[in-house]
Amino acid sequence: MARVLNFSAGPSALPEAVLKKAADEMLDWQGTGQSVMEMSHRSKAYESIIKKTEELLRVTMQIPEDYHVLFLQGGASLQFHTIPLNFLTKTKKADYVQTGAWSQKAVEEAQKLGDINIVGSSKDKKWSYLPALTNVNDDADYFYYCYNNTIEGTQFHQVPKVKAPLITDISSGILSQPFDVSKHAVVFAGAQKNLGPAGVTITLIKKDFTDRIPGGLPAMLDYKTHIDNGSMFNTPPCYAIYIVGLVLQHIQDLGGTGPLYDANQQKAKLIYDFLDNSKYFYSPVEKSVRSLMNVPFLTRVADPEASEAVNKKFVKEAEAVGLVNLAGHRSVGGMRASIYNAIPVAGVKKLVDFMAAFEKANA
Ligand SMILES: Cc1ncc(COP(=O)(O)O)c(C=O)c1O
Repeated sequence: MARVLNFSAGPSALPEAVLKKAADEMLDWQGTGQSVMEMSHRSKAYESIIKKTEELLRVTMQIPEDYHVLFLQGGASLQFHTIPLNFLTKTKKADYVQTGAWSQKAVEEAQKLGDINIVGSSKDKKWSYLPALTNVNDDADYFYYCYNNTIEGTQFHQVPKVKAPLITDISSGILSQPFDVSKHAVVFAGAQKNLGPAGVTITLIKKDFTDRIPGGLPAMLDYKTHIDNGSMFNTPPCYAIYIVGLVLQHIQDLGGTGPLYDANQQKAKLIYDFLDNSKYFYSPVEKSVRSLMNVPFLTRVADPEASEAVNKKFVKEAEAVGLVNLAGHRSVGGMRASIYNAIPVAGVKKLVDFMAAFEKANA
């Protein structure tokens, strides 16, 4: 069976080598006579898997020694609540920059627990840019931003320069390029983009930042519980963690995030150059803040109904030639190509060729 080129925003394409390795090991993981899915999480075999996965993550992301690495459940969405619950505890004020749907959800959760100061919002122009920061509080418990906006296609190419400890959601940017963990107090990501399958979320916490976690939190929502138990307070998402380990080993085999970053830059250039030169398609996102991973695009067809029909036609015809999951997010419309690590440069070339042919036939 031919595999498609999957441009889904998440869950999304995984490296074929990883899927093959998982298939090879499905019935018998390294002579244990069991699948990783069937193993006790307290077994020596599984302990070695989670330990190795953490080691690989530390090496690949260059996570400093003074950070905890947690494998959690509940998705990135649960972190939206767990973060303020654990860290909005001193001045009970935090700064958030609103750059799209995911940071908005994070704001809504944090507002249930404290005084949230919006230090910038790009809502006025449909999230197509990153706002300047105003009224930043030096004494905020933390400053929160979404590193890469999966739906809207913007990305912080520089870490915000603020005094408060930084917390960021890197769900859709993780492992796409070098990332400086050490500038942040907390970094988190749902796995289901560049890291692995859905079901596990990684959270990195600077060790001295845990001082401010209050007592008496519900056990599962208390980061200390997971720190003290090595992410094994309860049954972890064993199989998802195992696949994350395979993905990380694969990245190491390729030479780390450096070569991936090179390929990702080539891919992004191919598609953005095409969009900027097209008379039919365009990128709605301000050039300087365009995402390396998620590329929304629209057509210049002005009439809303005709435009919607063209979008549908595009997605359908693309699917027929093996380019799948190109519909834009329902809140934005248009199209979106998520060009995560597992999409090769040749895959983006194929997409761009298809777009050129579609333009010729429909413009
Ligand atoms: C940037 C970002 N944050 C958070 C989420 C929510 O993740 P989850 O579905 O794992 O809760 C997503 C999902 O796509 C995302 O892209």
